[in-house]
Amino acid sequence: MKGWILLLILTKLVSFSMTQPTNSLTWLSYLRNRAYSHGYGRSHNNNHASLRAEDEDEPSVLDCPLECDCPHSYPSAMYCDNRQLQHVPFVPSHIKYVYLQNNQITSITNGVFDNAPNLAWISLHTNKLSSDKIGDKIFTKQPNLERLFLHNNNLSRVPQGLPRSLRYLHMNHNNISKVPVESFRGMSNLTALHLQVNGIEDLGNALEGLLSLTLLDLRGNRLKKIPESLPPKLGQLYLENNRISSVPADFLSQRPELRFVRLSHNQLTNGGIPASAFNVSTLVELDLSFNKLERIPTISTSLENLYLQANKIKEFSVSSFCRVVDTNNYSNLRVLRLEANEIRAQDIPTEAVLCLRRATNIDL
Ligand SMILES: *[C@@H]1O[C@H](CO)[C@@H](O)[C@H](O)[C@H]1NC(C)=O
Ligand SMILES: *[C@@H]1O[C@H](CO)[C@@H](O)[C@H](O)[C@H]1NC(C)=O
Ligand SMILES: *[C@@H]1O[C@H](CO)[C@@H](O)[C@H](O)[C@H]1NC(C)=O
Ligand SMILES: *[C@@H]1O[C@H](CO)[C@@H](O)[C@H](O)[C@H]1NC(C)=O
Ligand SMILES: *[C@@H]1O[C@H](CO)[C@@H](O)[C@H](O)[C@H]1NC(C)=O
Repeated sequence: MKGWILLLILTKLVSFSMTQPTNSLTWLSYLRNRAYSHGYGRSHNNNHASLRAEDEDEPSVLDCPLECDCPHSYPSAMYCDNRQLQHVPFVPSHIKYVYLQNNQITSITNGVFDNAPNLAWISLHTNKLSSDKIGDKIFTKQPNLERLFLHNNNLSRVPQGLPRSLRYLHMNHNNISKVPVESFRGMSNLTALHLQVNGIEDLGNALEGLLSLTLLDLRGNRLKKIPESLPPKLGQLYLENNRISSVPADFLSQRPELRFVRLSHNQLTNGGIPASAFNVSTLVELDLSFNKLERIPTISTSLENLYLQANKIKEFSVSSFCRVVDTNNYSNLRVLRLEANEIRAQDIPTEAVLCLRRATNIDL
């Protein structure tokens, strides 16, 4: 292998232009790909048969960039992770899965992925990507991309021209404050959108048209309200650690698929919660812990898990859980957390036992 590389360097040195990337691995890779595209490797098979015997009939290994691994056992994958790369290497056309995470990549120029139109999966997380150093046409030739991992970078806005084919999009742990309204347009197959731990204040109508979205993670942003145009199939909405002080009266009744809503560590007061906002029978879990509630909001008898710890609740109101209490009417609540409030065990009325007969866990 080493002899072959040396030969390549010696014979191709003259044609190497110093305008190419200066990183030595990138350079070697450039030479190698060039050699193959000119049939160089094939014509020298006789001289180097013993050195290259293994690679002989394996295009996937032949055109693999030197800085990456393309295993025989998984020919559609290219592993370039954890090797201090500063650039995206050449991606051979048959590759579907490209792993570039845990490197030092700061910039991506337009065209780097264009040679590989069948990419289904690009991992670029845990690099140093900045929004002003990535091209706006990087992904325009990726009609099949389903998973894009961009988390743990230094992006300040959602990249332009993301493929509509995406199903999973991870952009959490960046510094994103700008979400242009067209960012997710046409992504009718997007199922999970991870935007947690960024600096988003408002999503505007950016979520409109996400017909397949079931999970939206917006924890740890700067939202002051529940996002508008929540997708119709949304089942899990994570909004912990924002600045939300109120919820719209109908945001749950219009979204019957919404089962899990987490709003802990916000600025919610009872004044910001309309009477029936959480009184919907479709909800299974509601987390309102670490807010500023003084009363228990009215919930549906279908709710199973309610988290209210670390508020300022002074009264255990059975009517919040059951409108009628008899043998046929009771709450389905399994878990109720009320610790770090202003209620003591002796404040709980006796009819609570009948109403909450299905509870397995009540923490005070
Ligand atoms: C992150 O991006 C900002 C611009 O948005 C830039 O000023 C800063 O130097 C970048 N930080 C790193 C570690 O690349
Ligand atoms: C969504 O997925 C379906 C089925 O796999 C596919 O036919 C369609 O083209 C995809 N939509 C987009 C916008 O990529
Ligand atoms: C995050 O973005 C804000 C501007 O939105 C900027 O002031 C700040 O320096 C950025 N933080 C980092 C760590 O790049
Ligand atoms: C809660 O919903 C139930 C069932 O839809 C309804 O009967 C009840 O009046 C509602 N309670 C409040 C306070 O909105
Ligand atoms: C109480 O239970 C009865 C019998 O199951 C039912 O018809 C009635 O609607 C329930 N009332 C309420 C307020 O849930």
